[in-house]
Amino acid sequence: NSTHVWAGRFTEATDALVQSFTASEHFDRRLYRQDIRGSKAHAAMLNRAGILSAEEYQAIIEGLNEIEAEIERGTFAWSATLEDVHMNIEVRLTERIGEAGKKLHTARSRNDQVATDLRLWLREVIDEVIASLRTFQTGLVDLAEREATTLMPGFTHLQVAQPITFGHHMLAWYEMLVRDEQRLVDCRRRVNVMPLGSAALAGTTFAIDREQTCAELGFERPSANSLDAVSDRDFAIEFTAAAALIMTHLSRMAEELILWASPLAGFIELPDRYCTGSSIMPQKKNPDVAELVRGKTARVYGDLQALLTLMKGQPLAYNRDNQEDKEPLFDTADTLRASLRAFAEMVPALVVRRERTYEIARLGFATATDLADYLVRKAIPFREAHEIVGRAVRYGIEQGRDLAALTLEELRQFSSAIGEDVFEVLSLEGSITARNHLGGTAPAQVRIQVDKARARLGQA
Ligand code: ARG
Repeated sequence: NSTHVWAGRFTEATDALVQSFTASEHFDRRLYRQDIRGSKAHAAMLNRAGILSAEEYQAIIEGLNEIEAEIERGTFAWSATLEDVHMNIEVRLTERIGEAGKKLHTARSRNDQVATDLRLWLREVIDEVIASLRTFQTGLVDLAEREATTLMPGFTHLQVAQPITFGHHMLAWYEMLVRDEQRLVDCRRRVNVMPLGSAALAGTTFAIDREQTCAELGFERPSANSLDAVSDRDFAIEFTAAAALIMTHLSRMAEELILWASPLAGFIELPDRYCTGSSIMPQKKNPDVAELVRGKTARVYGDLQALLTLMKGQPLAYNRDNQEDKEPLFDTADTLRASLRAFAEMVPALVVRRERTYEIARLGFATATDLADYLVRKAIPFREAHEIVGRAVRYGIEQGRDLAALTLEELRQFSSAIGEDVFEVLSLEGSITARNHLGGTAPAQVRIQVDKARARLGQA
């Protein structure tokens, strides 16, 4: 029991089960860089406040540098007995530099320390995820430009609805990712608040300078209430919620990619390097990456649920429950980063089978709405026009021919208002070109949105 820094008030050694049950070093060790960075800033502040001498401060910095090197070399002896990353590093520091190491924890608690570490760590993750989102956005914009005139069927209820361009569809995905980015930018503002100095729960009796550590660690401001600061995990929940929504978007994209790559649609070819084969069926090329992104979305939803439930019953201030925040948060960050990286690479590399998307759009009476709109322009009320076109479609189905394949005489059976000019609106090209307004599918609009996106991404 003598190994515990808190052993003073205890009369017997910790039970072996409790020892392993309470340990977190096997997963929180990944916070070592943030923990060391926080300790250095804290030591610098203690030195300026006259609590640590210049020599002690120097020894602490050098000791922490050496420990960081040990960890990175893989020679650091992690110990579950020392519970967590914080105690592992602190005990090692004292082992290396002696007395000065014992002074580092002055005016600090693991409660403000772990909250600070986690925020530093999450801030980096958010910056990485934002960069990844922007890479993916750029890829989608490139693809949208390449396929700005590529015709495909647009669906509602997964039934052919109206012709759209493939580029327009890619820009719909881009819009989702723009909102995702905005949510993370907003979430980052609340992550970037510094708990350090709150100590265990009530603050400290020492004359600390929180503005100094705050500036040193790049936080926007120190937290305003010590009780809240050590117990708040909103920032982790917010990030995970934003991540869950990103995964929702990726999962919806995955669903479409899988469908489009299936011979049922045959719209796209995914790059071979992003697909896998079958151990029994030699012909198979499976979209496993997309399927796994769809599947991994479930983990992130679970992580969000875990964090929400973790917090709901906790009284102020810190409770050990909070140690359970890390694994879901780490899992979400890992899953999100890997999924985004995979899609940012894979999606822009897909090949559209343009003859196929055109053919399916042509077969589904996709320009029926265009014909109704045409009749409205010939002074027929929309409800009547709808009825007329419905009858024409029914005739086409019986004949096995698309609207554009009917003769003028055949079409005029349904309305004498139909003239020679009808064939322009019945063509797929005519249909998309006519939807030429802000947000519409016309190639001209897709190009305008591509330019706007490039300007937003700083690439114009
Ligand atoms: N490992 C702990 C955590 O992750 C650090 C804080 C422990 N504080 C305490 N009073 N036991 O939350």
